Amino acid sequence: MPSLEDAKAAVAAFPTPSYVPVAVFAGGTSGVGQAMAEALARQLHGRVHIILLGRNAAAAQRILDSFPKPASASEDGGWKHEFVQCDANSMKNVQAVCAELKTRLKRVNFLVMSAAGPRGNSFTESDVTEEGIDDHLSMRYFSRYLYVRELLPLVKAAEASGQHAHVMSVLGAGFGMGFSLKDPMLHEERARSWKFLQGLTPKFAAVKGMVRGVGYNDGLIAYFAAQNPSIAFTHIMPGQVWTAGAQTLDLGWLLAPLGWLLTLQRRIFLVIPQDDCAQYMLSALLSPDTERGGAFFTSMHGSVVGGHVFPADYDAQRDWRDEDTRTGYLQGVRVKGYGGSDKTVTELNKWTEEVLEGVLSGSAA
Ligand SMILES: NC(=O)c1ccc[n+]([C@@H]2O[C@H](COP(=O)([O-])OP(=O)(O)OC[C@H]3O[C@@H](n4cnc5c(N)ncnc54)[C@H](OP(=O)(O)O)[C@@H]3O)[C@@H](O)[C@H]2O)c1
Repeated sequence: MPSLEDAKAAVAAFPTPSYVPVAVFAGGTSGVGQAMAEALARQLHGRVHIILLGRNAAAAQRILDSFPKPASASEDGGWKHEFVQCDANSMKNVQAVCAELKTRLKRVNFLVMSAAGPRGNSFTESDVTEEGIDDHLSMRYFSRYLYVRELLPLVKAAEASGQHAHVMSVLGAGFGMGFSLKDPMLHEERARSWKFLQGLTPKFAAVKGMVRGVGYNDGLIAYFAAQNPSIAFTHIMPGQVWTAGAQTLDLGWLLAPLGWLLTLQRRIFLVIPQDDCAQYMLSALLSPDTERGGAFFTSMHGSVVGGHVFPADYDAQRDWRDEDTRTGYLQGVRVKGYGGSDKTVTELNKWTEEVLEGVLSGSAA
């Protein structure tokens, strides 16, 4: 298990690229995403194009102002530090922001998604967004899927130029959480649930949203990696991190004292500062071991729990095994810490596309 010193050394060993990397942090205005953006800016002495996505413009400005700035014109090379506002609870917003980015960026080298959203730590509250998506999943899964799908041409352009190309979702990797799609995630499915259970439906949905989001992120990574085998896709676990969004644990009024106790226990024994977490996360993002591309499921210490690097002659159209039901297998290979199967990934992808199509075309319930 890599130590914090190992992670720091790995980040420090990242050579300054000849080009100015473009790094997008969806969730870069606080928490793990903020700390990763800051650490990357420091490592590259500010010679990087960083885009922080989020809602809080004032917080973003404070973070951007704190980045080192290249001292001389010769170090310039097109660096930029900017904030782009996006409430990612809305898929239409995500799509619009990605469309805007595509009009002016030529490539994206690093796409990091870490925003958990308003329901970040609530095991009891859930609702549906105005677009009809479960609000645990809108931030933790659907917005991330859409960011990847929409910005993929820019990530591919980076890879095609022989540059770093890495997509990372910071959520809860390594548990091998299996997933099915039969859950009350959307409006119409909630409406169908039994009347006498209706008061509890949000609570069931909250827990399911939390748990399913983790499995779905495994599916997201597996799907896009399989379609784009020479690009690196990582689902990573940040560990227990003392970020602004993770300082309370909502278990409902009945279990509130347990929630306080667990929060206290986390504070004393478990949590790590977000800057330390960022070193682990960044060591995985910049790792030479992922440069050939593939799907990686990575621990809170930045080490790969399980991964799959696709063979050089792999062809997604020809080789994808959409009937393989074995959980934890990707393309016939057992991947430790991974919870999908080629069949569930195929189904998840189909369902996700249908949901997004409904929302983005305006025909959703
Ligand atoms: N922290 C932990 O202990 C822990 C443990 C396990 C897993 N995780 C997972 O690791 C990831 C990172 O954790 P974290 O604690 O850094 O998460 P976080 O505190 O929830 O992330 C904060 C970021 O999310 C953005 N955000 C929230 N709502 C948004 C919205 N509607 N639209 C756009 N951006 C929004 C915030 O930006 P604005 O405020 O500017 O909108 C901010 O940049 C999360 O997915 C979390 O679930 C964390």
